[in-house]
Parts: sequence; structure tokens; C-alpha cells
Amino acid sequence: MKNLLSAGLKKLRGDDSSTARDARPSTTPPARRAHVIAIAAQKGGVGKTTTTVNLACALAQQPGARVLVIDIDPQGHVASSLKDAVRIAGTSLSDVLLAQTPRDLMDAVRQSDIEGLSLTPPDKALNETDTRLSTRVGREYILQAAMARARAEFDWVLIDCPPNLGNLTLNALVAADRVLVPCDMSILAFEGVADLLGTVRVVNDRLRHPLEVLGILRTRVDGRTQQINEAIGGALDDNYRALLLETSIPVNSALAQAQAAGKSIFQYAPTSRGAQAYRALAREVAGRVTSGKAESARRMARP
Ligand SMILES: Nc1ncnc2c1ncn2[C@@H]1O[C@H](COP(=O)(O)OP(=O)(O)O)[C@@H](O)[C@H]1O
Ligand SMILES: [Mg+2]
Repeated sequence: MKNLLSAGLKKLRGDDSSTARDARPSTTPPARRAHVIAIAAQKGGVGKTTTTVNLACALAQQPGARVLVIDIDPQGHVASSLKDAVRIAGTSLSDVLLAQTPRDLMDAVRQSDIEGLSLTPPDKALNETDTRLSTRVGREYILQAAMARARAEFDWVLIDCPPNLGNLTLNALVAADRVLVPCDMSILAFEGVADLLGTVRVVNDRLRHPLEVLGILRTRVDGRTQQINEAIGGALDDNYRALLLETSIPVNSALAQAQAAGKSIFQYAPTSRGAQAYRALAREVAGRVTSGKAESARRMARP
């Protein structure tokens, strides 16, 4: 949590970019350097959005931390997971991605009602945007280019990806420093991990972006289905041991109820097992990011 603490200290010293956002000339060096994490998996329903929202809220609980969630999934589930927290009108992510001249992602960023947390609004047009991006030169780099100011405004940027490896996910991976891969205890999710890691190699080698794998997160682990856990857990361990995060997320009905109620798990059931797991995940993520463990994980992911 070193960077979060330093963010808190900066704020105490009055060295907080948010207070000077509009007055600062564009040549001023950034006050913050965000860690940008894409949450991606090819399969739907594995807990991408649940992880994005609750990890973001756990990180935002650190004193002085500023966290941005970019919802690049056309389903727009981040906003429905935090119902009261986001204002929808105004510039959308599609406006930024499809602009003929470069636009700033900050135009699409809204402050939420949760302290320290900002969001991009839900954007159903992103489906069409994915298709329209196919004809654009340099289409994979648009979000990366649009994020320069956001990187200086936030400590953490989390990107909730759609359940495919299309243009939107590629934009997220190229804009990110690291990717977090949720995998539930199903064979389809397990097979999807190999595809995602293949895409990471494409991003590294062909798109020349040094994306690291932050880790594979076991989600929806059900203590009652021991055999399945052992089969999928064993296969994950055999194939990706160096990439597996220590924290795993149990099946916890409070997590599903919180999402249905449009609240984070910390608002809905702060002492639940789900809340404890996402707090532990935030600690592990912050520890990995500051200790550079993700870098070694990237090297070990290569064949
Ligand atoms: N650990 C969990 N325990 C119980 N329900 C969960 C858990 N994680 C996710 N869910 C529920 O599973 C469904 C899919 O999760 P979601 O995060 O939306 O997946 P994705 O974004 O990958 O499609 C949602 O209804 C969500 O509330
Ligand atoms: Mg989702």
C-alpha cells in the first residue's frame, strides 16, 4: 500500500493534482502515476465486473487514493453494480474512441458518490464502436493515447473488459500496465485463460506494448463442489502456478445480492466473506504492483 500511503501524504501536503486540475498548464509533469489494470477474460460470468467494482472500492478506501473505473464493456454493468453512484449524461467512451481528432478520456470521466472513485458512464453504443474501430488505422492505441491525463490524475485505473478479445479488449490491454484474469472453476473459463495469455503475447510482440500479467484470480470458488475445485484448481496450478494469485474469491451470495442492489460489497455487507476476500485482493494487488512481482509473472507466462 506504499503508493496509496504516499498518495495520502501528498494530499496532506496539498500536493493533490485534483485541486489544480484546470489551472495546471499541460506541460506540467504529472502529479500521480496511475497503475492501470485491465480486468479481462474471454468468458462471461466469471466475475470480471464484480472484481472490477469491488477491487476499485477497496482501493478507494485507502486514505487519499483516487481510483478510476473505465467500463469498456457494452453491457455497462459497472454502472448497474453501483446504481446511485454515476451520472450518465455527457461525453461517452465511444465519443472518445471514435473521435476524428484525439480526445481526452477525462471528458468522459464522472466523479461518483463514493469517495475517491470516478467512473466512465455505461455506453451501449460500444458494441457498434467495436465494429467501427475495425477500419481505423492504429485502432488498438486509441484508449492508451486518450489516457495520458487520467494517468496523472489517478492512483489506480481499472478497466472492466467485455467477454471477448475484440477491439475494445485490445484497446484496454494496450492502455494497461497489467492484466488481471478472473477464472471461475469451470472448464470453459480455464480454456479461456490460455486464449487470454495468447492475446497478451500478441500485445507484447506484435503491438510492442509491455503488458504484464498481474495474476489469475480464482473466482466463485464453491467449497461444496470439492471435486470440480480440485480438477480445475489442479489444472490451473499445473499450468499457471507462477501466475496464480494467493487470494481467491469464494462463492458468496452477498456479492450477487450487492450487485443486484447496485451497491459495492463494502456498502452492502462489509463483514461478509466476499468483502473480506476483496479487501485481501486489494492488499495482494497493491503488494504485487509495488514489489514488481507482476514482471516476473510475465516472464514465466511465456512458453
Ligand atoms: N464470488 C461470487 N459469489 C457469488 N456470485 C458471484 C460471485 N462473483 C460474481 N457473482 C455473480 O455472478 C454473476 C456474473 O458476475 P459478473 O461479475 O457480472 O461477471 P462478468 O463481468 O465476468 O460477466 C453476477 O450475477 C454476479 O453477481
Ligand atoms: Mg461484466
